[in-house]
Amino acid sequence: MSNDYFAAQPSPSEIKEKMKGYSSWLEIDLDHLEHNLEQISRHVGVTVMAVVKNNAYGHGVIPVTAYLESKGVEWCMVAKLYEALKIREAGLKLDILNMDVLFTEGQYDSVVGNGITQAIYTRDDAEKLNESANRLGVNAKVFIKVDTGLNRVGVRHTEAAGFIEYVHGLEGVRVMGMFSTFQQNFEDSKMLAKLLAVDAELKTKGIEVPIKSMASTDATFHNPAGWLDLVRPGMSLYGVYPEKKDLSAPVDLKQVLSFKARIEYIKRITRGEGVTYWGKFIAPKDMTIGTIHAGFYDGIPREMANMGRILVDGKYKSSLGSVSLNHYLVDLEGVDAEKGTVVEIIGREGENTLSKTAETAGWMVYSLLNHLHMNTPRVYYSGGEPVALLDSTS
Ligand SMILES: Cc1ncc(COP(=O)(O)O)c(C=O)c1O
Repeated sequence: MSNDYFAAQPSPSEIKEKMKGYSSWLEIDLDHLEHNLEQISRHVGVTVMAVVKNNAYGHGVIPVTAYLESKGVEWCMVAKLYEALKIREAGLKLDILNMDVLFTEGQYDSVVGNGITQAIYTRDDAEKLNESANRLGVNAKVFIKVDTGLNRVGVRHTEAAGFIEYVHGLEGVRVMGMFSTFQQNFEDSKMLAKLLAVDAELKTKGIEVPIKSMASTDATFHNPAGWLDLVRPGMSLYGVYPEKKDLSAPVDLKQVLSFKARIEYIKRITRGEGVTYWGKFIAPKDMTIGTIHAGFYDGIPREMANMGRILVDGKYKSSLGSVSLNHYLVDLEGVDAEKGTVVEIIGREGENTLSKTAETAGWMVYSLLNHLHMNTPRVYYSGGEPVALLDSTS
C-alpha cells in the first residue's frame, strides 16, 4: 500500500490497543474491496468510477477512496461537495465527479479551484462555472447529466445535444463526459438508445464527448450494452448483491464490512420475565442473557426486535426484545461469554450478512448501510492486520 494516507496511520498494535476500549465498531476488509474492484473491472473491461458517496456507503469515504486510488482507480463519485473537498484535503489526486447542487459563488469557485468535475444540466450552472474558471485562470471540468427518463435531474435527452454544444463552446469549460441513470426496468434499452442518440447528434456537429456512462451496479451485472466507456458501481464494490436476482451475476463479490460489538453485561433471568421496553421478549424458561452496548443509534434497525442473528462464541444466537437506542440483547444459552466478549452483529457470511439483515428488517440494503453511524469507529484491515483507523470519538 503506497499511499500517504496509510503511511500516516497508527501501527497495527496501536490500533489493536485502542480497539480494546470500543463497545462497537465496524471492520472494513480492504482486501475484499480490492477483490471486488478486480472482479468488476475484469467483467466489464471499461473504466470503473468508484461510487464513494454517502461516506462510501458507510465504509468511510477517505480510507476507501485512498485505498482505491492506490489500486489505480482514476475516478470516484460523491453526492455532497463536502465529501469531494475532504478527498482533496486528504491529498488524493484522482478525478472526482460531484453530483451535489451548487448555490453560491464560493461553491463554484471551490469546485473549480480544487479540480473537481461538476455534474451539470443547466446553462446557469455552465455559465457560473465558466465565470469561476475565468476568475481562477483554470478550466472547469464538467460531466453533463442527461435525463433519459428517470425525471429526477438532468437536461432532457431531446435538448441535450444543443445544451452540450453550448457548454462545449464556453471557453473555460471542458466537457469530460455525459451520463445518465437507468430506471432499472424494461425501460432501460429505450433509455440507452436515447443517450446514444444524443451522442450521434453531437457527432454530426463534430463534437466528441470523451466519456459516456449509464451503468451502476444493476447494469454492471446485467446489461453489457449499458457499460459504454465507464461504469459507476457502488453497492457491488462493497461486495453486496443488492437483490436476490443479482446472485446470478457473473462476478464473485465478497462483502467488505462487518459490525462488531462487545457484551457489556450478563445476567440470569427467570421464566416469565419481560425483557426490554414493552416486555417485547418474555423468557420461556430461566436463561442467561447478555446486553450489547449498541443500538439503533449505531444503525441496528428497530425492526430487528427478537429477529437479529448475533454470532457469539462461534454460534448464531437470537437477539432478544426490542432494539434500544444504545442496547441490544442476546440469548447466551449454550455459549461462553463474559463482559468484553466480542460478538458480530453483521457478518460477512452466514446468517447475519448485510443482505440477510436488511431482508429481516424489511429494509433495502442501501438504507442499512446509510444508517451506520458516522461516529462508530471504523477499523481497516489488509492481510488480516489493522492498517488504518477512523475514530472521531477521541
Ligand atoms: C448517478 C449514480 N450512479 C451510480 C450509483 C451507484 O449505484 P449502485 O450502488 O446501485 O451501484 C448511484 C447511486 O445511487 C448514482 O446515484
